[in-house]
Amino acid sequence: MARRSVILGTGSALPKRRLDNAELCETVDTSDQWIVERTGIRTRYIAGDGETTATLAAESARNALEHAGIDATEIDLIVLATATPDQTFPSSATKVQAMLGIPDCVAFDVHAVCTGFLYALSVADSMLRSDNGTKALVIGSETFSRILDWEDRATCVLFGDGAGALVLGTEEGERGILATKLHADGRHNDLLFVDGGPSTTGTVGKLRMKGREVFRHAVINLADVLTEVLGEAGLTSADVDWIVPHQANARILDATAKKLGVSTDKIVVTVDQHANTSAASVPLALDTAVRDGRIKRGDLIVLEAMGGGFTWGAAALRY
Ligand code: UT7
Repeated sequence: MARRSVILGTGSALPKRRLDNAELCETVDTSDQWIVERTGIRTRYIAGDGETTATLAAESARNALEHAGIDATEIDLIVLATATPDQTFPSSATKVQAMLGIPDCVAFDVHAVCTGFLYALSVADSMLRSDNGTKALVIGSETFSRILDWEDRATCVLFGDGAGALVLGTEEGERGILATKLHADGRHNDLLFVDGGPSTTGTVGKLRMKGREVFRHAVINLADVLTEVLGEAGLTSADVDWIVPHQANARILDATAKKLGVSTDKIVVTVDQHANTSAASVPLALDTAVRDGRIKRGDLIVLEAMGGGFTWGAAALRY
């Protein structure tokens, strides 16, 4: 029987401040109707003083540890996906390690923008199965509000801040991560990027996106990678109980499900509540659906995401 990485617990965290579309309209030339019709977003959370990628990540990790019934000192691997670290270095993962009071473990950040959580999950899964640890925290955490151009209505209405975490262990049996698939195509850098960085401008920069072109690539790439990961796991779309997608746009979620032939009732949608939280969106959505009882033990779940680079990926797992 195969040894697999299994989800022992999930957790999430959101900043205190909620910013709904109506309030956003007071400072940005937009409307609730445009945002809801084009994206499905109704509200988002914005990090305030003292709230950072690492503090949100640590809070989501504590919630996941509590859910798993595991003490932080049992963790020997932390993989944190983020494009908005607290500092250029050291990694936010090591900050989380210190906040959780873990004296020694492996800790590092993974950067694949909105696909970051899928990359982090795949790396942690490989490391656990090759005996590089027994229990891992896999976290997606972002504070995109700090890299938005609040005068660019085409992007600033789309994103929010938050974090989600999983505790992974390993076990022999049927449940756990069945397959992961990752992709990148660096030719599309100019469609979704930040116009700054330590080695170029010496600044943090602001997010820039050609939304319509990203949208077109997203639907094609996501449907393809979901088909690919299900094939790798020896499954078809008919086996899927829940799709837990990256939450960028409700229209992308619907179009992807349609292309895959999966009912839209099987999509976990949180984009209305959280907007696009980049690497945090998949674990945030997963935790939401686990805690509200939609996702149950034994369910077949596929996770998927697509983001800057382009990068995209998917995972199939039995919860
Ligand atoms: O997480 C990484 C992956 N990211 C994504 O997957 C994002 C993918 N893209 C999208 O979700 C959509 O393309 C957007 C939501 C970003 C935009 O929707 P769209 O239907 O593609 O709109 P558009 O960019 O083509 O703009 C349509 C119109 C334009 O006006 P004109 O030129 O038609 O007069 C924009 O100026 O909507 C206008 N517009 C707005 N109007 C009101 C753009 N942003 C806004 C806004 N409020 N916030």
